[in-house]
Amino acid sequence: MVKQEQIITALDIGTTKICCIISTITENDQIEIRGIGETKSYGLSRGVVSNIRQASESILKAIEEAERMADLPAENIFVGIAGEHIKSYTAKGIVKVTGTKKYPTEITEKDVEKVKEDAKHLASIGNDRKIIHVMPMYYTIDNRPGIKEPVGMSGNRLEADVYIITADINSVMNIYHSIDRIEYKAKDLVLESIASSSAVLDEDEKELGALLIDIGGGSADIAVYHKQNICFTEVIPFGGQSITNDIAIGLRTPNKQAELIKIKYGHAIPEDIDEGEIITVPGIGGREGVKKTRKFIAEIINPRITEILEMTYKKVKDISAFKALTAGVIITGGASKLKGTDLLGERIFNMPVQIGYPRLDNLAGITDSINDPRFSTAIGLLYLGKENFEGNPFDKTTGKSLFELIWNRMKELFRFEDFV
Ligand SMILES: Nc1ncnc2c1ncn2[C@@H]1O[C@H](COP(=O)(O)OP(=O)(O)OP(=O)(O)O)[C@@H](O)[C@H]1O
Ligand SMILES: [Mg+2]
Repeated sequence: MVKQEQIITALDIGTTKICCIISTITENDQIEIRGIGETKSYGLSRGVVSNIRQASESILKAIEEAERMADLPAENIFVGIAGEHIKSYTAKGIVKVTGTKKYPTEITEKDVEKVKEDAKHLASIGNDRKIIHVMPMYYTIDNRPGIKEPVGMSGNRLEADVYIITADINSVMNIYHSIDRIEYKAKDLVLESIASSSAVLDEDEKELGALLIDIGGGSADIAVYHKQNICFTEVIPFGGQSITNDIAIGLRTPNKQAELIKIKYGHAIPEDIDEGEIITVPGIGGREGVKKTRKFIAEIINPRITEILEMTYKKVKDISAFKALTAGVIITGGASKLKGTDLLGERIFNMPVQIGYPRLDNLAGITDSINDPRFSTAIGLLYLGKENFEGNPFDKTTGKSLFELIWNRMKELFRFEDFV
């Protein structure tokens, strides 16, 4: 019998593009990219579904394109979630160790589940929020803190410090609804900044401490890692689209033209551009083009990219891990391709800044076209999807996947026929 291929699909529903990547797991445990579909996204606003029908249609196009290339169905779809509605915080759970019959003080998986459940319970999340991730940072056994793997250890009291990420229930449901309408099923949701971090940061960077900024079209998503733990996430509601809009206004040119100019001539630092570099901005409606210096374009761009990076700096400067970010700042996402962004970042953060490309070392297949910061989220979804199948689900505290929980809730709120 031919061994069934394990398919993992990534679906990055971005503000400017939808990207679907279908992969399979090879015999030597690599992720083989089999099909890629990318379409312009409609019905999305700052990372959130704002028009279900339009979003569904765009998603369908991307999935179908990936399926055609892969000649495989999009199964086990891991979907990114982002937006200003995401909130995260730390919580603590405490339980008495029940252990095993033979060793009543030996901590088991069950005790670990219980302590995470306790942390969730104590965090008292309202009905309008859905937990996306519960990530244990460290455990304390009796009075010994800083334990990473408590199972098998001995103790009477188990405490867990966890990082909980929640999302607005309606935003979550709109994602599920958009995928369900076209008769696909989302396996699970992953915070986009966590997905991008998995693609871009290696284990050393997560251990030493790193700040990842994914600047997309609609927002900049921040994640801070230290000692392997995620310890901070935030969303800045500006991205590459805001830069394009500024250029469109500054040059009195349509957005489409402004986008092309940004990509071809854009730069974050005006002082680094020679005064003599002149470009022609095409005229509207057959009118003659206007000549502008490239420095002038950079002067339009600079305040916005500075604002995005300064807002990020303000959000992270007071968190304790920020002072220990030995691996520095890594900027990814499409807007990180703006020239000079790393240098501007170094001035603002006063630490090393690099542009983050997705790690392709454990990937096989058609990887050339995805070696781009725009694909960090989608590739990270594949890495995390694979881990999920290896028994490391995103939220181990519930037997049900997030999909099942949401699906039940959806059935309560809508008539079933609306979804099929
Ligand atoms: N070479 C470039 N220079 C400057 N900006 C660029 C370049 N290439 C892409 N961008 C910008 O990157 C943005 C898109 O990035 P990305 O594909 O990561 O966003 P997204 O995932 O669709 O959006 P989001 O993550 O915010 O929902 C666009 O605003 C685009 O103009
Ligand atoms: Mg994105």
